[in-house]
Amino acid sequence: MRTTASYLRVIALVILAIVGTEYFTDLPEGEYAIIEKPFAALFVFMVFIIALGIEVTVAALNKVLYLSLSEEKKAAFDAKEAEKSTLFTRKFEAMMKAMTKSKEIEEEHEIELDHNYDGIRELDNKLPPWWVYSFYITIIFAVIYLVRFHILDDYTQAEEYIAEVEQAEIEIAKWKETAKDFVDAETVTMLEDEDRIENGERLFVANCVACHQADGGGGIGPNLTDEHWILGGGIKNVFSTISEGGRSGKGMVAWKNTFKPSEMHEIASYVMTFQGTTPADPKEPEGEIWTPEEE
Ligand code: HEC
Repeated sequence: MRTTASYLRVIALVILAIVGTEYFTDLPEGEYAIIEKPFAALFVFMVFIIALGIEVTVAALNKVLYLSLSEEKKAAFDAKEAEKSTLFTRKFEAMMKAMTKSKEIEEEHEIELDHNYDGIRELDNKLPPWWVYSFYITIIFAVIYLVRFHILDDYTQAEEYIAEVEQAEIEIAKWKETAKDFVDAETVTMLEDEDRIENGERLFVANCVACHQADGGGGIGPNLTDEHWILGGGIKNVFSTISEGGRSGKGMVAWKNTFKPSEMHEIASYVMTFQGTTPADPKEPEGEIWTPEEE
């Protein structure tokens, strides 16, 4: 009866731990934290070990207390436990016993071996069936593995690795599309979102007008409204110039440590909106006329 309750408590705690980690990790549908995240598996395992430890300690204490009872009280206690036991608990305990084939302490003298080392005696216990069958399963696994990978050459570790890397690349590409801070000069495209372009304007006014003018007409820095570019036009080149800076000594610093990629994306998109506008005091064109075909 008691042991059934212990097992059920351990199982309940482990289920609670699994449900808890699944609830708090919030993975896409069809993925389970306990499989995907080693840490979740470790956590559940720790819960299991700690719960088991507590139950074993409590059971040992109870056993000691029980043994310290007088014969009368033991009998009374047994009677009470028997009263509480149900068909389910009896079946469950019989099953657990079958899994270990353990002998009751009272019957242990039957399997005691007749040697005695300084008072330490040995029991000829049966191997627990759960252990024996697990061992058989490993043998079957080994045979299947051997035939599949060493005789039929199903696939090699190298092929498995390549397939996983390919899959990861697909996932990275998918993720880059949605992660707005992951733009770089390769992937950047003109923003459509008005709010984000406006944010680019705010950042431009706060950081760039000293050299480029609010209308992009230029001063210390070149005119950004014409189709001449020193460092290349188009959203990709402009993004790259903002991120990496101009030629050394010219005054255009690299801004990648000041702005997040998403912000440089916004500024670059705003800079592109200057194209074809007429500034109040335009600086003469510098650099080559840039045509998109060169991109
Ligand atoms: C200290 C002055 C200064 C500031 C501030 C400055 N720039 Fe520049 N910028 C320059 C100079 C000078 C160049 C030319 C670089 C070269 O010739 O290599 C330039 C070049 C550029 C170019 C390339 C133009 C071309 O013709 O290829 C872009 C785009 C640009 N700046 C954008 C910006 C943005 C956006 C900011 C604000 C985040 C900014 N700049 C801040 C001085 C500045």
